[in-house]
Amino acid sequence: MSAEKIKEKSYRFALVADIHIDLEKNGENTYFIYAEENFRQLLQAAKKYGCEFIISAGDQVTNATGAVEEWKRYREIIRDSGYQGLIFEALGNHELRYAKYGGCSVRECVDEFIQYTELSEKPVIRENGKPYYEYIHPLFGDSYLFMAIENGYDVNSLDNFSDEQMDWAESAIAKRTAQGRRIFLIQHSPLYGFGAGDDRENPAYLGSIRTQDAAGNIFPNNLRFRKLLETYKDIIWASGHTHLRFEDEKNYSDDSGNSCRMFHIPALSGTTRLTYDSDGKRTLDRAFREDEAQGYIVDVYEDKAVFSGVNFFRDELYPLYTYTIKR
Ligand SMILES: [Fe+2]
Ligand SMILES: [Fe+2]
Repeated sequence: MSAEKIKEKSYRFALVADIHIDLEKNGENTYFIYAEENFRQLLQAAKKYGCEFIISAGDQVTNATGAVEEWKRYREIIRDSGYQGLIFEALGNHELRYAKYGGCSVRECVDEFIQYTELSEKPVIRENGKPYYEYIHPLFGDSYLFMAIENGYDVNSLDNFSDEQMDWAESAIAKRTAQGRRIFLIQHSPLYGFGAGDDRENPAYLGSIRTQDAAGNIFPNNLRFRKLLETYKDIIWASGHTHLRFEDEKNYSDDSGNSCRMFHIPALSGTTRLTYDSDGKRTLDRAFREDEAQGYIVDVYEDKAVFSGVNFFRDELYPLYTYTIKR
């Protein structure tokens, strides 16, 4: 293909996080009450707008008392939608939640993720048994790296990545950078007080990744992850996890040029909002609102990627939350 022809070309994908299929009870009621309906809306939008694939940045299931039935529902909704494109999922902390309560092992939760996302059938580069992987786009050769929250549900008190995963991520990023490829990194949880997805100076959400524990001991692999973001400034990283809505305007940061380009994706299942508690401390309003199913449709061109904020419930664009990222 000539350079001119490539310039005219583009491809499109949908970028969401926190689908949170929820069949289980949190107290009296299922918690993520709009999860299934919003997931159906996403799949219809992906068909209508010609998305070649969908990226889901973690927390596909809620997993309070086991994820298998939720994964089965997840697959049913995809099958019934008629959407034929690929879906690439990242492993979020909720995929591992039941292991926290002793209902299964972390490894069993990881295996469920691999099985029910049908990861072995996808055109990805992956070591056997691993939940992290790479997809190379056939048109522009862009590298999509999907990392996994591997070690447990409580991301704020764990070193979340194995040595093996960090070795893999560092070597893939170094190699793809040397090849001049564009890198999209998908990793579910933001870092506390860093980047997008929360109030950076006064974070409202305590459950993000830390680089050290309460006693000041370093989490070495969480720190390696942050170093990657600070070293390879051309990376485009997308996270979810805090569920923070677009309107709070913590959607994007490159740390004034000191880190890579960092997007936070609001939750498809229902967003959170920055607020203050009765003591005047920063917190999140988690009340569900039916009309807040937020994510992006991304158009990738040879020289730029355009992230257009979408309300999938209302099937509307958010002109205020559209970002153009130059190559
Ligand atoms: Fe979530
Ligand atoms: Fe999460």
